[in-house]
Amino acid sequence: MNTLVLGLQWGDEGKGKAIDCLASGFDVVVRFQGGHNAGHTIYVGERKVVLHLLPSGIFSPSSVSVIGNGVVVDPRQLLAEIDSCERVQLDLGKLVLSESAPLIFPFHQELDVAYESARCQHIGTTRRGIGPAYEDHTGRRSLFVRDLLDGAEFRRRITPLHDASCRLIEANGGTPPALDSYLNDYLECGRRLASRVTDTRALLYKYWKDGKRILYEGAQGTLLDIHFGTYPFVTSSMATVAGVFAGTGLPHQALQRVIGISKAYATRVGEGPFPTELAGDEAEALRKRGGEYGATTGRPRRVGWLDLPALRYAVEINGVDRLFLTKLDVLDGLPEIPVAVDYRDSRGKSVGFSPLPDRLATITPVWRSLPGWKEPAAGCRDFAKLPGAARHYISFIEDFIGISVGTVSTGATRADTIVRS
Ligand code: IMP
Repeated sequence: MNTLVLGLQWGDEGKGKAIDCLASGFDVVVRFQGGHNAGHTIYVGERKVVLHLLPSGIFSPSSVSVIGNGVVVDPRQLLAEIDSCERVQLDLGKLVLSESAPLIFPFHQELDVAYESARCQHIGTTRRGIGPAYEDHTGRRSLFVRDLLDGAEFRRRITPLHDASCRLIEANGGTPPALDSYLNDYLECGRRLASRVTDTRALLYKYWKDGKRILYEGAQGTLLDIHFGTYPFVTSSMATVAGVFAGTGLPHQALQRVIGISKAYATRVGEGPFPTELAGDEAEALRKRGGEYGATTGRPRRVGWLDLPALRYAVEINGVDRLFLTKLDVLDGLPEIPVAVDYRDSRGKSVGFSPLPDRLATITPVWRSLPGWKEPAAGCRDFAKLPGAARHYISFIEDFIGISVGTVSTGATRADTIVRS
C-alpha cells in the first residue's frame, strides 16, 4: 500500500525512525518538500546518523531513493551527505534527483539571515535559505537542478538572479556573497550529480503503474505548513498531504494510506505560538529526558504537553489513517501527565483549535490530567506488556482524535517499537 509518513506537530516528531522502520517494505522512498532544514535522526544499530536532505530510504539498500521536484536542493549539501554516507559504506547507487527541483544558492542563505535580522517579526528559521529559495520559485526566477548540467546556460542565467538577490541582501543590511565564490563549485556539483538527475515525475509514474510500493517521506510538520500552519511562524513548503502531489507529480490515486507521527508530548523550535508549552525546571526536565535539541541547528527545543485539539486538526487536514506515537518512554516515571483537551477564550468560552497566532495568543488550554506510570515503557516491544496507565494514555488519545495508534515507539533504536496494525 503506497504510504505517506508525515508529522502532525511542529516537526521533529520522529519521522526518521518511522520511515526507517517501514522502508524495507517499500520499493521506492520519496522526499517531496522542504530542503536541508529537515533533520532526520536514525540509529543504525548503535550508530546515530542525521540526514538533512537525503531520504531516509537510503538505509534500505533495496529501495530506490528519490528527491522529488518539490524539494529545494543545495547541491553542495547534497554531495556532502552523499560523501558522508559512502564513507560508512552505505550504497547510494539507487538515489535519483529531480531535474526540476529548485536550487538553493549562497545568496538564499544570506537573504534568510538578513531577513531574520531585518524582519519586524522574528521567525527563528534554520537560516538555510529555504524561504528565499521557495520565494524565487513562486516568483518564477528559480534555477533548477537541470540547469547545473549545462555550464554556458547556467552562467548566463545565474548572473541576473545573483545580482538582484545581492541588491536585496544589501538593502536588508547583509553581506552578499561573490559569484566567483560558488559558481565553479556548483558546476562541479552538476558534473558529479549528472548521472542521478532525471525526470522523477515520469519515473515515479512508471513505478506506480508497475505496481512498485511507494513510501512518501514528509519533512517538518503540519503546524509548520505554509498554508495550514501557525503562519507566519511556518516553513515555506507544503508539509501536509497536499505536498505529495505538488512535490512528485503523482496523482492522488498513487497514495493509499497516511500515517501521522506525533510525539507523546510536544516540541517546537523557532518562534511562534505553543499553547501547551512548559517553562522553567519542568521544561528543562522534559527537554533533558527527551534529548530535545535540534538535529539541524542544535538549538534546545521548546517542550510542552500533548495538545489534543491541535493533533485532531492535523489528523483532519491530512486524512490520517493511523497514528505512529513516538517517545512514549520519555514520560516514564511522571506521577501524572497533563494533556490539553480544549481551549477557552478570554471570556471563558470553549473554542476549537485555530492555527492563527493572534487567536492562539488569547486562549488558554483546558487541561485533563492522566495518570502516569511507574514501571518503564522504555524498551517495551509488546503492547500488552506496556504499563496499564500507558495503555490508558494511548486509548485516551485514540478516543479524542478518532483514529487508532498503529505503532508506538518506546526507544531510539528500530527494535524499540510496538507494531499493533
Ligand atoms: P525554515 O524552514 O528554515 O524557513 O524555518 C521556518 C520554521 O520552521 C522555523 O521555526 C524552524 O525552526 C522550523 N523548522 C524548519 N524545519 C524544521 C524541522 O525539520 N523540524 C523542526 N522545525 C523546523
